[in-house]
This record gives sequence, structure tokens and C-alpha cells, in this order.
Amino acid sequence: MYRNIKKIGFSFLLAFLFLSCKNEDHGYHSVMDKIEGEGKSYKGVSVSSESYIDHIKTMEITTGEHTFLIPERKSKIKSYKCTECHAKPLKETQLTGSAKKAHWDIGIVHADKNTMNCISCHNGDVMDELKSLTGNPIDFNNSYILCSQCHTKQFKDWEGGAHGKRIGGWAPPRAALTCVNCHNPHDPHIASKWPVRYNSVKAEERK
Ligand code: HEC
Ligand code: HEC
Ligand code: HEC
Ligand code: HEC
Repeated sequence: MYRNIKKIGFSFLLAFLFLSCKNEDHGYHSVMDKIEGEGKSYKGVSVSSESYIDHIKTMEITTGEHTFLIPERKSKIKSYKCTECHAKPLKETQLTGSAKKAHWDIGIVHADKNTMNCISCHNGDVMDELKSLTGNPIDFNNSYILCSQCHTKQFKDWEGGAHGKRIGGWAPPRAALTCVNCHNPHDPHIASKWPVRYNSVKAEERK
């Protein structure tokens, strides 16, 4: 008898819990609303990347079938805006002979001289923009387009997320570093490194 009362009581409890869950569900108009509403945080923990990247100024790009965020560049370039000095087309101001160049500290350690000089990438007439090989303007914030012309493989890998580095978390929105965050466009090679941890096989190879 007593056991039965307990059973009934328990069933009531179950029914109550079940109903109260249902009521909470009804706080949303549709299941899509619910996913939206509850997707933002799980048990009080944010499942959005936003909080990890909100200290970085980012911009959204769409390339191929991918849309993601990359860091903004222009505010990071020391001598931008270039037109503060480059008011006239480069041809009229360029130095010849042995005079010390304005950008003497920039040398190209990239492709060889036949393939590349300063104005392969910079627009001598409108210095605030980069330019494609065919002369189309490219914004300094979108310099990955410049690189993509010659480095198709790495560019495709980067678009898909296989080359470079994702920043923030794995939850959306997707944010990734852009080419010039890691490669200096004037000297882009990154030297190989040995692993930090001691590895006896590598030590043997190095002998
Ligand atoms: C403080 C002034 C100043 C600023 C700022 C400046 N430049 Fe220059 N730059 C010059 C002068 C002057 C020359 C021409 C004399 C020379 O060839 O050295 C020059 C030359 C150049 C050249 C041709 C170099 C060569 O060897 O033919 C390029 C390319 C160039 N600048 C790019 C830029 C870009 C891109 C920016 C902005 C990100 C910029 N400059 C900002 C002063 C400046
Ligand atoms: C392969 C393409 C490429 C070539 C070649 C190139 N640049 Fe650049 N340059 C860039 C890009 C891209 C940036 C912007 C990088 C960034 O976002 O930090 C840049 C930035 C600069 C800046 C601004 C640097 C700063 O931090 O203030 C100057 C000045 C400049 N370039 C001058 C030159 C000169 C002079 C030459 C030739 C000796 C040259 N560049 C050759 C792609 C190139
Ligand atoms: C006009 C074609 C051209 C453009 C534009 C260009 N590159 Fe290059 N890049 C080359 C060539 C050619 C080489 C040297 C050959 C090689 O190693 O693939 C090279 C070499 C490199 C390397 C070194 C590869 C190594 O051996 O480690 C890196 C990294 C690189 N480029 C990155 C960039 C980035 C980032 C940009 C955009 C800012 C860029 N390149 C724009 C043609 C280009
Ligand atoms: C998070 C940093 C990072 C970003 C972003 C990045 N790269 Fe790289 N990249 C590297 C490193 C590190 C290497 C050297 C890999 C090695 O030596 O094994 C490399 C290698 C390269 C090479 C040499 C060939 C190779 O695969 O080893 C090229 C070319 C290149 N990157 C182009 C690009 C271009 C173009 C972009 C943008 C579309 C880009 N990278 C974005 C870090 C980066």
C-alpha cells in the first residue's frame, strides 16, 4: 500500500517535470527560435567566438564559397596613408642614381627582379591602393587577393582553413589571420624550425 503511494507520487513528479519542461519550450515560437536563443550559451558558457576576438578590429570577407572574418590591416600600417607624401605619381618623385631612397629599409627578398618590383604590387599613381598584375585596384585590407594571383595552392588552402591560423574558437563566427599577419610581403619566407622538445632521432640526423 505504502509502496503504491510512493509509486504514484513518483509518477506525479515525473509528469510535473515533463510538463514544466514543455512549458519552457513554449517560451519559443518555433524550434529555430529555440536553437538561436539557446545556441548562444550553454550552461552559462558562451559558445560563440565573438568574446575571444572582440579586442581585434575585424572585417568580413567573402571569397569563393567561404565567408569569414580577418583582421583589419590599414590601421596597422605605419606609413599609411601613403598619399600624405605620395601626392604626385611615383614617376615624378622617384629618385635615381645613388641617392638614399625614402624606403631604403625595404628590399625585396621574394621573387626575382624579372618577376617583381615595387610596382608589381603597389600602385605608383594611387599609392593608397595595391594593384593586381592587370592593374586593378586592391584594398590594403584585402591584400590576400594580391597573394592569391601567384600562390593559388596556399590561397585555396587558406580559404578552406587548412593554411594559416584560425583565431577565436571553433564556434561561429569563423575568424582567421590573413597572409600578411604572418608573412612580410617584402620578405615572406618563414624559416623552418626544429621541434622545441628534444628528439633523439632528430639529434642523430643533425650530426
Ligand atoms: C614620409 C613620406 C612617405 C610616406 C608616408 C610614404 N612614402 Fe613612399 N616614397 C616616399 C618618397 C619621397 C619616395 C620617392 C623617392 C624614392 O624613390 O626614394 C617614395 C617612393 C616609394 C616607392 C618607390 C620606391 C622605388 O624604389 O622605386 C614605393 C613603391 C613607395 N614609396 C610606396 C609607399 C607606400 C605603399 C606607402 C604607404 C604604405 C608609402 N610609400 C608611404 C615617401 C613616402
Ligand atoms: C609582393 C607584393 C609587394 C611588393 C613587391 C612590394 N610591396 Fe610594399 N607592401 C605590400 C603589401 C601587401 C603591404 C601591406 C602589408 C601590411 O598589410 O602590413 C606593403 C606595405 C608597404 C609599405 C608600408 C610599410 C609600413 O609598415 O609602413 C611600404 C612603405 C612599402 N610597402 C613599400 C614598398 C617598396 C618601396 C617596394 C619595393 C622595394 C615594395 N613595397 C614592394 C606588397 C608589396
Ligand atoms: C607576381 C607573383 C607573386 C605575388 C603577387 C606574390 N608572390 Fe610570393 N612568391 C612568388 C615567387 C615567384 C616566389 C619564389 C618562388 C617560390 O618559392 O615559390 C614567391 C615566394 C613566396 C614565399 C616563400 C616560399 C618559400 O620558399 O618559403 C612566400 C611565403 C610568399 N611568396 C608569400 C606571398 C605573399 C604572402 C604574398 C602577398 C602579399 C605574395 N607572396 C605575393 C610570386 C609572387
Ligand atoms: C598563421 C600564419 C600564416 C598565415 C595566415 C598564412 N601563412 Fe603561409 N605559411 C605560414 C608558415 C608558418 C609557413 C611555413 C611552412 C613550412 O615551412 O612548413 C608558410 C608557408 C607558405 C608558403 C611557402 C610554401 C609552403 O607551403 O611551405 C607560401 C607560398 C605561403 N605560405 C603563402 C601564403 C598565402 C598566400 C597566405 C594567405 C592566403 C598565407 N600563406 C597565410 C604561415 C602562414
